[in-house]
Amino acid sequence: MMDHFVIEGGIPLSGTIACSGAKNSALPLMAAALLTEGVTVLNNIPDLQDIRTMAMVLRVIGADVRFDNGRLTIDCSHCNFWEAPYELVRKMRASFYVLGPLIARFRQAKVSLPGGCALGPRPVDLHLKAMEQLGCDISIEDGYAIATVEKLIGTHIHLDIPSVGATGNIMMTASLAEGKTVIDNAACEPDIVDLADMLKAMGANIEGAGTRYVEINGVKGLHPVEWTVIPDRIEAGTYLIAAAATSGTLTLTHCRTDHIGALLNKLGKTGVDVDSNLDSVSIDATDRKLKALDITTEVYPGFPTDLQAPWTVMMCMAVGDSIIKETIYPERFTHVQELLRLGTRITKKLNSICIEGVDRLKGASIMCSDIRAGAAMVVAGLVADGQSKILRIYHMDRGYEGMEEKLSSLGANIRRVSE
Ligand code: EPZ
Repeated sequence: MMDHFVIEGGIPLSGTIACSGAKNSALPLMAAALLTEGVTVLNNIPDLQDIRTMAMVLRVIGADVRFDNGRLTIDCSHCNFWEAPYELVRKMRASFYVLGPLIARFRQAKVSLPGGCALGPRPVDLHLKAMEQLGCDISIEDGYAIATVEKLIGTHIHLDIPSVGATGNIMMTASLAEGKTVIDNAACEPDIVDLADMLKAMGANIEGAGTRYVEINGVKGLHPVEWTVIPDRIEAGTYLIAAAATSGTLTLTHCRTDHIGALLNKLGKTGVDVDSNLDSVSIDATDRKLKALDITTEVYPGFPTDLQAPWTVMMCMAVGDSIIKETIYPERFTHVQELLRLGTRITKKLNSICIEGVDRLKGASIMCSDIRAGAAMVVAGLVADGQSKILRIYHMDRGYEGMEEKLSSLGANIRRVSE
């Protein structure tokens, strides 16, 4: 079944919504449950397809996983299998997060390599190299990474790129290795801090998470905990951008504004009024034209690549020209061709796009190619005059909890049509 959204655009958003739990924190936390032989409880889990996919991966490994109203119970006492199959990993790359925990727990793992992706090349070489440095033998057979190790021994790991996934995988494996592991040029994303904090509550010894230099002293064992996932900063950013692009207002609650500092700063510079507390923020973009503003995507705390596509739509509605430079995924511009169908003026050059602001967009049928490009399609539909049909919204169900309910509560005219 392929659902689509029908949106009657041109209505400024207005109202208050609460942020959901962060998908990109929840996924590694679920994998971390494999490090214990007990029952881990995770709260504030968003009801998303990606969470269900990770639950399937854990079940294949032998975990008993239950989801009830934002609360996930993961019983890993009977895990007895160390494989993550292609059928699941190809649906969601974050399945690769089980590599580190499987190696730590079973001293072996067989995890499918993720393969192609709409964002452009997304290799996992840094994950594999790091596991080798910790003592693993790694081979590639039939599209699977196969790891075996007798003894995991702490070491100094320099990441050529501060990869979020590799940093997470290393922290999980090194927590149960012998001796000290250092990650230098580690990722600093809030998801990494959330994972480190949960691992510490489980008994791990980790220092420096959230900085470029993380030190992990291996321990003998970890115990299960109950943990609450941090708010989703990308979901928060998406709705703030949607409200600004529609010349609307929005109050977000249950968020962490210190995780979206770069966005709030840029929003302010486009002329949007921003009023923030630590866990809530209100913006007002009514009765004004937004100023065009250049952005460059960067690792945290810079402007996130995951908000680049929605930001593109907002800049289409600004006065003047702006440039977006993508430094994390140089080919992450699949949204551009779709947006051109609405009357936008965007040209692409290498890893940048140049956007000429226009007065209005006209609704059309457009397709989602990944979660965040999809978010851009929805924002475009909300902005464009007349009706837009947003196709392939299974991408939205992967990453945005209750999207149409949240947007409807803000006054948007959006409905889901099941084909
Ligand atoms: C995480 O992916 C997020 N996913 C992505 O969000 C996000 O876009 C990305 O970080 C960047 O912020 C999850 O957290 C589940 P990386 P991840 O490893 O960990 C290169 C969404 O829509 N690289 O930090 O896979 C890589 O190609 C998703 O929610 C290597 O070269 O990202 C990229 O250019 C999309 N070799 C850069 O590093 C490796 O072994 C950063 O990737 C690993 C990464």
